Amino acid sequence: MAHTRAAATGRAKAYSEAPAGDPPASDVILQSFAVEYEFPVHFTRELFSPANRVFVDTLRRREPERRHRCMVFVDDGVLNVRPRLPAEIEAYAEAHGRHIDLVAPPVAMPGGERVKIDLHFVEDMQRRIIERRIDRHSFVVAVGGGALLDAVGLVAATTHRGVRHIRVPTTVLAQNDSGVGVKNGVNFGGQKNMVGTFTPPFAVLNDLALIDTLPDREKIAGMAEAVKVALIRDGDFFVWLERNADDLAIFRPEAMAVMIRRCAELHMRQIAQGGDPFEAGSARPLDYGHWSAHKLEGMTRHHLRHGEAVAIGIALDARYSVTAGLLEPGSEDRIAVLLEHLGFRLWHSALEIEGEGGLVLLEGLRDFQEHLGGELTVTLLEMIGRGVEVHEIEAERVAEAIAWLWQRQAA
Ligand SMILES: NC(=O)c1ccc[n+]([C@@H]2O[C@H](COP(=O)([O-])OP(=O)(O)OC[C@H]3O[C@@H](n4cnc5c(N)ncnc54)[C@H](O)[C@@H]3O)[C@@H](O)[C@H]2O)c1
Ligand SMILES: [Zn+2]
Repeated sequence: MAHTRAAATGRAKAYSEAPAGDPPASDVILQSFAVEYEFPVHFTRELFSPANRVFVDTLRRREPERRHRCMVFVDDGVLNVRPRLPAEIEAYAEAHGRHIDLVAPPVAMPGGERVKIDLHFVEDMQRRIIERRIDRHSFVVAVGGGALLDAVGLVAATTHRGVRHIRVPTTVLAQNDSGVGVKNGVNFGGQKNMVGTFTPPFAVLNDLALIDTLPDREKIAGMAEAVKVALIRDGDFFVWLERNADDLAIFRPEAMAVMIRRCAELHMRQIAQGGDPFEAGSARPLDYGHWSAHKLEGMTRHHLRHGEAVAIGIALDARYSVTAGLLEPGSEDRIAVLLEHLGFRLWHSALEIEGEGGLVLLEGLRDFQEHLGGELTVTLLEMIGRGVEVHEIEAERVAEAIAWLWQRQAA
């Protein structure tokens, strides 16, 4: 939810490079205002159980007395394992009918990348929103994985130039990372996230019970972001992850809940306090381990999940940090051991593929730079819990780190 903190202040100013005394070359009014965003991220269980007030109270947060129009889009992957969810949402709306006006039954949408690769789905959702007269004070709710949240987020940000959007993330990755951020988007022309906006949601409601049904592989993949953010921001959290790796490896709910909450909190802090919430600069500090991960995802045609590729990228850049003299030797083994303990395999044959110009993986550096624009900026580690930015990556050192990964998995 955005608030305009200061009214727009128009100041008349004249700039001129002409010598003093000459008439100004142009006349300009400088527009300047700041917009403040605030949104809650809740952690709860059984969000749509009528006794749970989190959802209805979230709708009422700005206008407590109103009856709020809502439209809900649900990931069909979630519906496969929870077919009663739409009925539960309808029953919830009915139980809280004084404040919730569900304008249509929950609408199923394709889960995973399918919803992002075809603009048809974006248009379909926009049409439904307009048909059901969802306006700028109404709500569009997305229940699903990061992909569905990205697509619905774009729909909500652009229809009527922005309607209120509530995210209900249903994967570990979406609950601890993507869902608590400020970005949305879909793919275009075969390129990931090419069309999208930076738009903070109205609220994020993490229902930890929703991830119970997630396939093990997805649960493991989501933990890579926790290891990543611990490494660059919070050494104590890294130690906590090491100590609780046994419980996390079997997805014990109490450990998962702590992991998700802390990871989400660290991501949120970076966005709020990192000084660049809408990524106008060249650095993306939270993308430690990601330059190679993005390339690996593409090279394996998404056979590797994002988190699986990130785990490999984390280990690779940990080794690189050590051989570059930034990180204490031995730390890279500690990091790799934790990732393996959590269930990651730190190898993929795509790491070794050679093209005309050497390792294909290295093209990931160029892609990374092009996506952000400006100077190449890669986050490495100077200690466990603290990242450091560098502007150059040496190909030989990357090759050495790949050989190190190979030796580990062959041992
Ligand atoms: N906006 C951001 O800042 C940001 C950040 C990182 C990643 N992303 C995006 O997130 C997407 C990946 O998201 P993801 O990892 O959450 O997975 P996903 O959305 O791709 O979902 C993976 C699969 O799990 C299914 N699923 C979702 N929840 C389930 C549940 N509770 N039970 C059973 N099945 C379930 C989905 O239907 C899908 O088939 C990518 O498109 C990526 O680009 C966005
Ligand atoms: Zn990531």
